Amino acid sequence: MQLVVFGANGPTGRQVTEQAIAAGHTVTAVTRHPDTFPLSHPRLRVEAADVLDLAAVERAVAGQDAVISTLGVPYGRAPVTVYSTGLTHITQAMTEQGVHRLVCVTSTVLFGVEAPGEGFLFRKVIEPFIVRFVGHTVYEDMRRMEEVVRASGHAWTIIRPGGLFDTRTVSDYRVAASRLPGRFTSRADLAHVLLSEAVSGGHVHSCLDVRTTEGTPSILDVIRKEAFGRTA
Ligand SMILES: NC(=O)c1ccc[n+]([C@@H]2O[C@H](COP(=O)([O-])OP(=O)(O)OC[C@H]3O[C@@H](n4cnc5c(N)ncnc54)[C@H](OP(=O)(O)O)[C@@H]3O)[C@@H](O)[C@H]2O)c1
Repeated sequence: MQLVVFGANGPTGRQVTEQAIAAGHTVTAVTRHPDTFPLSHPRLRVEAADVLDLAAVERAVAGQDAVISTLGVPYGRAPVTVYSTGLTHITQAMTEQGVHRLVCVTSTVLFGVEAPGEGFLFRKVIEPFIVRFVGHTVYEDMRRMEEVVRASGHAWTIIRPGGLFDTRTVSDYRVAASRLPGRFTSRADLAHVLLSEAVSGGHVHSCLDVRTTEGTPSILDVIRKEAFGRTA
């Protein structure tokens, strides 16, 4: 298949790209920084584009069989619009170019229910603090993005993972249409779900949780890694 990956230069996007190439697909990897993109392959085209630029997004989407988005921005105080504006442009470009399959990422917190199996501290203090304060602007824009995707008329699937951590290998992960127990999702597993859904057309018009069940880190491990450097 011909696949375009937005956010391809992020740690999940790189794994999506690698897994798609290994599976025999042809990939257009979209990044604002093509000079820093680490992969090359005869079936890989690296496209310089900002998702805030509709014309550039249309060029990337033209001729594709499916679109995968792993677009992301870090937590911060400034208003975030990349998710919602990005997916507005991507879905418009898909309509324009006659492309229908879309798989994209938000977060498990968008299920809007407390984390199953967790104790009082995590359910009532840690996660609400992250959602309402630390990541407020990101989650608000993810909500707007999901509305854009639902209203698009396309064959969409939204993947809502837990906290991300890095592994190189895909594990025997769990997927469900409701919030799963467990705090973490490996980027290899997330990439695998994104690719499987894009290729199979599996769960159209669904929001799926994905959770890694083995080799998961502690919260302190993840904070140390995400705050002080990645080696994806
Ligand atoms: N970190 C977590 O624990 C966690 C938990 C749940 C969900 N998520 C979500 O999972 C997804 C993947 O996360 P990740 O950590 O692998 O990736 P990420 O570092 O959040 O970002 C992915 C890429 O998005 C691209 N991007 C940002 N703004 C862009 C723009 N205006 N135009 C084009 N590209 C743009 C950047 O690439 P360039 O700079 O090269 O353009 C970036 O490398 C994200 O949606 C994230 O919000 C993360």
